[in-house]
Amino acid sequence: MRLNETVRSEMEKAVLCWLATVGGDGDPNVSPKEIFAPFAEDDLVIADIASPISVRNIRLNPKVCVSFIDVFRQCGFKLAGEASVIGRDGEDFADFAAPLRSKAGTAFEIRHVIHVRVERVSRIWAPSYAVFPNRSEQERLEEAYRTYGVQPRSA
Ligand SMILES: Cc1cc2nc3c(=O)[nH]c(=O)nc-3n(C[C@H](O)[C@H](O)[C@H](O)COP(=O)(O)O)c2cc1C
Repeated sequence: MRLNETVRSEMEKAVLCWLATVGGDGDPNVSPKEIFAPFAEDDLVIADIASPISVRNIRLNPKVCVSFIDVFRQCGFKLAGEASVIGRDGEDFADFAAPLRSKAGTAFEIRHVIHVRVERVSRIWAPSYAVFPNRSEQERLEEAYRTYGVQPRSA
């Protein structure tokens, strides 16, 4: 499924995603990943740096769900699909790893690339969008800064 510009640009700006997988025994597993990026037109890639359970699960059951949000704007996306694990000896490893290398830098070794073929995309909105539909984006940002006790860096 094609990822539109909004999904791609919000993914590029998000600092963290959450990858959910299912084990062979049906047990769910979820863990955060910082090194992820849109790939080609339809997919995303995630770096396995320290994610043995995610990798093991995907090899047993390819179904995954990935979510990411902008904590300040309080919205994001949920992407569901099927994943595969590409090892360093895979012939396309360098191509799949390319968008992850600039994020990972040289300190973190990418052991595998988790390649997600996205099949379904849905929006995630904080409940405040429904409860306070007339709030401006600036008002939402200010509320989030207050909630998290942070200040935006001045230009
Ligand atoms: C902020 C943050 C970012 C992380 N980014 C990644 C990442 O990009 N890739 C990775 O493999 N592990 C990353 N981790 C580590 C995994 O989430 C962690 O090792 C986790 O236990 C892996 O679980 P799993 O084997 O169930 O996937 C990150 C952890 C944190 C807290």
